[in-house]
Amino acid sequence: MEKFVIKGPSNHINGIVNISGAKNSCLPLMASSILFKNEVFLKNVPFVNDVFTMIKLLTSLGSKIKISIKNKTIRIINNKNHKLIVPYNLVSTMRAGVLTMGPLLGKYQKRNIFVAKGGGCSLGIRDINYHLSGFKSLHAFNTLKDGYVKISSKKGLVGSKFRFPNVTVTGTANLIMAAVLAKGVSIFKNISIEPEVVDLINFLNKSGAKIKFIGKRTIKIVGVKEFLNGEHEIIGDRIEAFSYLCVGAISKGKVTVKNIDPKFLNSEITTLKKIGFLIDTKGKSISLNCKKKLKPINFKTGPFPKFATDNMPALMAVLSKIPGKSIVEETIFSNRFMAAPELCRMGANIKIKKNNATIIGQKFLNGADCISSDLRTTFAIILGALSSNGKSEIQRVYHGLRGYYRLVFKLRKIGVNIKSVV
Ligand code: EPZ
Repeated sequence: MEKFVIKGPSNHINGIVNISGAKNSCLPLMASSILFKNEVFLKNVPFVNDVFTMIKLLTSLGSKIKISIKNKTIRIINNKNHKLIVPYNLVSTMRAGVLTMGPLLGKYQKRNIFVAKGGGCSLGIRDINYHLSGFKSLHAFNTLKDGYVKISSKKGLVGSKFRFPNVTVTGTANLIMAAVLAKGVSIFKNISIEPEVVDLINFLNKSGAKIKFIGKRTIKIVGVKEFLNGEHEIIGDRIEAFSYLCVGAISKGKVTVKNIDPKFLNSEITTLKKIGFLIDTKGKSISLNCKKKLKPINFKTGPFPKFATDNMPALMAVLSKIPGKSIVEETIFSNRFMAAPELCRMGANIKIKKNNATIIGQKFLNGADCISSDLRTTFAIILGALSSNGKSEIQRVYHGLRGYYRLVFKLRKIGVNIKSVV
């Protein structure tokens, strides 16, 4: 099993990182290809493991897929009807498999569709009750049988008024992908406005959909007849960008991330400035520099445009090296502090109480063997390891390879002493 070996400390890391396309935009965009009768062409594709899982999933449904890793493109061709069963083995490794439910419903409204219900994951229970309530409002009813959600709309989807009880990113994407082919008008309230959801809306509108914002978190959708072809360049990955800015932060260096819209990281940039980092944004790039005395802070996560939960583990690692007391409040997932015990093995002082982490920053950390448990925890452990004295070995790094493209290459390029060992 692949592991990473990191030797630290890497101080004053100074470099430029080219940010890849956003995994969490690419996955719904790929799933939306099910809506199209002909083909979808995507550019700036991050060929991370989750994208390959989605390729397998769409291929199992009958799509023909051509990829060019060199050109970072995917062409998805639908020259026949899709199969209507989404298997558990693919949904179990990638929760985003649930994103096929909406487009399958939209395209094959009166047919019985079977999508494996994803299990939990290390972040906590990942329910899809909001997705299913949304589909019900469009007249699609479901039952759970042998671990599969069986769903269909006997008389066809009809536009509806629906308000999400809480913000859900994939729930919003899923419902939109069903409603764009429903008969009549839909109004959805309390939707996710994460950049990745807006990227999907922009792509669907470019391809003929009629989706309009009529409020900050309210959209109006007028159902259309069909989708034929689509083409789109995926937005930069704001989570990857923030992760690499944290490499500069924890090593007190200077890191610039390119191909990322700074507007996607407003809350994170404000938080980094509060700590004392100098942040400079120019066009599609963000630079972090470390000149002043750094101070601890309190912050909490929330739906966009608040501080992204996916960016919290990385900042927790940075704060573990900033003397003083910082407090982090996680408001999205019930179990998002999995990096804490691993950082504590390196000597960090992090106490978890319910959905709060109290961090007492340390001057030094020491390398230790660690085990990753999820995608963003992997990067947080890497941050702790690169700023520790001595060697660290990180097991189960496959979690990280799900969402960070060319992770070892990009880290080595800016001077982190990391190698992958099988
Ligand atoms: C998306 O997951 C992202 N994944 C996650 O990124 C991200 O952490 C999360 O949004 C929050 O921003 C993708 O986009 C593929 P939610 P999603 O539905 O859509 C509860 C990463 O690191 N909930 O917004 O599954 C849920 O349990 C991944 O790239 C329900 O209770 O998250 C959670 O507590 C990790 N019922 C909260 O809402 C539902 O029907 C937010 O979940 C749906 C969600």
